[in-house]
Amino acid sequence: MRCAFGIVWAASLLGISLGRPSDVVARDSALAYYDPETGFTFSEFKAAYSLSANIVYRVAVPSNVPSGTPYDIVLQIVAPTQVGWAGLAWGGTMPKNPLTVGWANGQKPLVSSRYATGHTMPAAYTGATYRQLTTGNRVNGTHWQLTTQCTGCTSFTGANGAVRLNPTGSNRFAFAYAASKPSSPSSNTSSFGMHDVFNYWSHDFSVGQNPDFASLVVKNGGTA
Ligand code: HEM
Repeated sequence: MRCAFGIVWAASLLGISLGRPSDVVARDSALAYYDPETGFTFSEFKAAYSLSANIVYRVAVPSNVPSGTPYDIVLQIVAPTQVGWAGLAWGGTMPKNPLTVGWANGQKPLVSSRYATGHTMPAAYTGATYRQLTTGNRVNGTHWQLTTQCTGCTSFTGANGAVRLNPTGSNRFAFAYAASKPSSPSSNTSSFGMHDVFNYWSHDFSVGQNPDFASLVVKNGGTA
């Protein structure tokens, strides 16, 4: 990895394009995205899973979270229909952090809460609770879009003890993608095959602040 970074850094100094997918170098940050449908302002990162396609990961957080207290988020994932499942690792590694996995199930996407202790099929995880909102959940001819509230995604026990994601700063994330669909798409405990691609980035929560988070959650069918 260090070598790849060095090559890309040197190439960028020389103005050479290596023709690599943008996900080879994990970009740091996220851009603000206002979603007119739900009213949330999200921090958005487009995770490239091929030379020409992205999975969009968006996180909305409440503004003014008191120091040290747990907080909910709203997660939105927008994926091309060819994406069989898409996962987000809240602590930036596969093992020992909440994994949110989404996939299309008929006309609606489905969210699955998982946790892995190693590099094997992640088990169902009760430390995070999801509530899919009444808005922002659809499957059409080109994409599936998942929008869910999560309680427990931002505080968890990681490999080195208690972790609480920074509500106003950058947090290390990872994603995983597979082209194959889960074996039982209507079940959130379905098994699924291993990913084809994974990568990391630093997701900047500061651009996804919502002063009216609680009222927006309720307005969109979540719970305060
Ligand atoms: C059937 C399910 C899964 C299997 C069998 C599996 C297996 C593996 C294996 C064997 C590796 C090591 C690959 C290597 O070193 O080249 C790996 C790495 C990884 N996996 Fe999975 N995985 C699964 C699901 C997931 C899910 C749902 C996520 C969610 C984001 C995920 C995220 C990652 C990440 C980020 C890595 C990089 C290494 C790390 O951070 O630990 N995986 N996986």
